[in-house]
Amino acid sequence: MQTVNTVKELKHWVGRWRRDDMRVGLVPTMGGLHEAHLRLVDAAFHSADRVVATVFVNPMQFGEGEDFNAYPRDLDQDAALLEERGVHLLFAPPVSEIYPSGAAASTRVTVPGISDILCGAFRPGHFTGVATVVAKLFNLVRPDMAVFGEKDYQQLAVIRRVTVDLNFPVEVVGLPTVREADGLAMSSRNRYLSAEERRRAPRLQQILQETAAQLGRPGADFRSLEASATRGLEAEGFRPDYVSIRRAGDLQPAAAGDRDLVVLAAAWLGRARLIDNLPWSA
Ligand code: PAF
Repeated sequence: MQTVNTVKELKHWVGRWRRDDMRVGLVPTMGGLHEAHLRLVDAAFHSADRVVATVFVNPMQFGEGEDFNAYPRDLDQDAALLEERGVHLLFAPPVSEIYPSGAAASTRVTVPGISDILCGAFRPGHFTGVATVVAKLFNLVRPDMAVFGEKDYQQLAVIRRVTVDLNFPVEVVGLPTVREADGLAMSSRNRYLSAEERRRAPRLQQILQETAAQLGRPGADFRSLEASATRGLEAEGFRPDYVSIRRAGDLQPAAAGDRDLVVLAAAWLGRARLIDNLPWSA
């Protein structure tokens, strides 16, 4: 595996593969890698000849008071895990390489509407930061395909919109959430949980499952199901930002008769903000 830190070196390697007509897959990450990231790599290998992984803690997607400084960073360990999984190229740039004029002054990509609801309502500017860095990575790597986890359901929806709206010739692949044995969605932020919080954390997915089990019932009242799930989380010691039943395609509030839904939640447990979701079809 080659590790490069500059756009020039990145372009050198990817350019060579392009000239040899190879199909390039991209796995963007912020590091703090765990098994779920490595499954994204495996998925990229299903349809690409060469796989580029990126490790970049993107300052633009962190708000004031968020965990940008605390976000887990261990490039040596990340590189070892990626190399073991067969990744050909690791791009781990400094902030100045991605945002030469500084993140605050940089041109940005904003996807209206979908960026402002759910997590976007609690993290203003977050999805603009995600959309901007992903658009930049698509421009720099020019991948044929890129893989993202469905745990970040709203993020994936934003990235799909960016790809269509800006005409990126990239196949965006979403991978089902990878879970621990007890059902907790894998996340770099799970390491913020104390042992006691870690024991309670799987309740988030269980409450989503209990909510989804009610969706098909005649006369199911989505708003009261959301309220009851919120109360359930509070009773377990979570501080929920939201629990919401949405249409799976456009993340608009679901109404009776909608067939493809997703139940989404974000909730704090101690200093970890956990997100999870559960797609559901009639
Ligand atoms: O999901 C993540 O790790 C990040 O939001 C991403 C897509 C790598 C953009 O920084």
